[in-house]
Amino acid sequence: MQILGIDVGGTGIKAGIVETTTGEIIGERVRIETPRPATPDAVGKALQDLVKQMNWSGPIGMGFPAAIQHGVARTAANIDKSFIGLQIAEFFSKQTGCAVHVANDADVAGMAEIRFGAGSDTQGVVLIITIGTGLGTALFADGHLMPNTELGHILLDNGFEAERYASEAVRVTKKLKWKEWGKRFNHYLVTMENLLWPDLIVLGGGVSKKLDKFSPQFTVRAPVVAASFLNQAGIVGAALFAETQLRQDG
Ligand code: BGC
Repeated sequence: MQILGIDVGGTGIKAGIVETTTGEIIGERVRIETPRPATPDAVGKALQDLVKQMNWSGPIGMGFPAAIQHGVARTAANIDKSFIGLQIAEFFSKQTGCAVHVANDADVAGMAEIRFGAGSDTQGVVLIITIGTGLGTALFADGHLMPNTELGHILLDNGFEAERYASEAVRVTKKLKWKEWGKRFNHYLVTMENLLWPDLIVLGGGVSKKLDKFSPQFTVRAPVVAASFLNQAGIVGAALFAETQLRQDG
């Protein structure tokens, strides 16, 4: 099945058509800036333009940076607060004229990695962390997802909320050297490991391409690897999520 996968981030919106049987992105990938302020109307309009530009009229899978329960956004850390309580699956379906299926962005990135990527050979507990404007988490046990874990908001023992201490946005705005930021990120990894005891940790987001620059700071016991789909995992996983929903519906 071919489905348009869209990864809505705090900074950019990325899209690509995904062949769901292989997890491959077909043709060009498109990236646009997330509108500021990222209100429902502004994001809806941007998505409408994106869909038109890609000449798409089929189903859409979307990863969205919020806790999502049955299509409704429950949090809004890096997007406009007016998303909270909105049935965004329906809202974006109306805006784009396509059937939109929405889940948390880290959860869908995790789905891609578990099905086709770095987590596909690991039984037991796999923790996927997406590093971007925020820190997203997806937790799998024997391939089953526990959705909306939101562990980027955990308080570290230094009093900081994790994503305000160790996200990519913090590295960039504070102009931290890789070593310095790597230590911060390791602090987060150690905290996660002591709570969840994962068998494998998979890192996604743009910086996963540069893992060798900050992995020397890691002291966790679990192996830490880059997402096989790097920062495309969200696009691929969004399409896989939509496919699962479509199969369930019909
Ligand atoms: C949001 C999560 C999201 C993560 C990565 C966090 O601020 O609360 O829902 O998965 O950012 O985008």
